[in-house]
Amino acid sequence: MQRFEDLAQQFATHFNNRHFPEQPATLYDAGEYFLGIGGKRIRPVLCLMGNELFAEIVPDAFQVATAIELFHNFTLIHDDIMDNAPLRRNQPTVHEKYGSSTALLAGDVMLVVAYDYLLKIKPEYIRKITNLFSRTAREVCEGQQLDMDFEKREQVGMDEYIHMIELKTSVLVAASLRMGGLLGGAGERNLHHLYEFGRNLGIAFQVQDDYLDCYGDPAKFGKQVGGDIVANKKTFLLIKALESADKERLASLKALLAGNAADKVQQVLGIFHDLKVDQWAFNLKEHYLNEAYRHLDEIAVVAVRKEPLQKLAQFLVQREY
Ligand code: IPE
Ligand code: IPE
Ligand code: MG
Ligand code: MG
Ligand code: MG
Repeated sequence: MQRFEDLAQQFATHFNNRHFPEQPATLYDAGEYFLGIGGKRIRPVLCLMGNELFAEIVPDAFQVATAIELFHNFTLIHDDIMDNAPLRRNQPTVHEKYGSSTALLAGDVMLVVAYDYLLKIKPEYIRKITNLFSRTAREVCEGQQLDMDFEKREQVGMDEYIHMIELKTSVLVAASLRMGGLLGGAGERNLHHLYEFGRNLGIAFQVQDDYLDCYGDPAKFGKQVGGDIVANKKTFLLIKALESADKERLASLKALLAGNAADKVQQVLGIFHDLKVDQWAFNLKEHYLNEAYRHLDEIAVVAVRKEPLQKLAQFLVQREY
């Protein structure tokens, strides 16, 4: 069983070459730029791990992993436009560098090229994999729309938040694993538990992302810290703060959300600190991580085969970037 680092290295040898034509360079340079500035490559490695949990990695797994990573990068380019984000992976975002119109197209064409890779796999798998891929892509769009809808709402319930992050983030984590498992020849029961492992892990992963957006070290995080607060994102932290604030703090919080104070981020962080919402986030992460492990336990393969997934899950919820 291979570790994350080894699989990421193997994936890189497939992935780190050109995916687009040369011309027009004004379009394709933007895509190449974004793919060239890195990323953790978690989802493609999860696909490879899902395969290796059951059998030796098949060549098709690299095609699917490539499609997944291209799709993920497409969502990030569009997400950064939607979130008005200046920075990602410690570099300017695509729309900052090339303008929003080119960024939209660079994302679009990345999605199209992702499907080209899916078409390269063995015919007997194309239908199953593409169906799951497309359903997942649709769900990500739904989650992204809910994320924006919630910015404008004063009150968002915790269950609505979990539903939203499940759609925007965790279904792709789950589907990456399941696609790998499918290619590895797993049966339906194992695939179910593998998907559920990913779904719960993905929720914990997004909670950590929300945490880092407030508390991350800017040098390590690679994204603008405080961006979620500026945009009134209904993250776990803000929802918990709104739920648990006393009358006075609730009034301050609502005024901060309604206004545009220069020190909004500092003030909101101060309230988060008073209410210890970071501790709540930690507990929520633990809950979903444990749920994920419960499903990993249910997968009927010998325990040592699960070790890379176990370790990766631990890393993902504690990561600093
Ligand atoms: C960022 O995903 C988007 C979220 C779902 C939080 P990653 O943290 O995996 O981004 P990269 O690809 O490593 O930059
Ligand atoms: C992103 O959520 C989810 C998708 C890109 C689909 P965020 O907006 O929190 O992700 P980051 O923080 O910009 O990476
Ligand atoms: Mg974003
Ligand atoms: Mg977003
Ligand atoms: Mg975020």
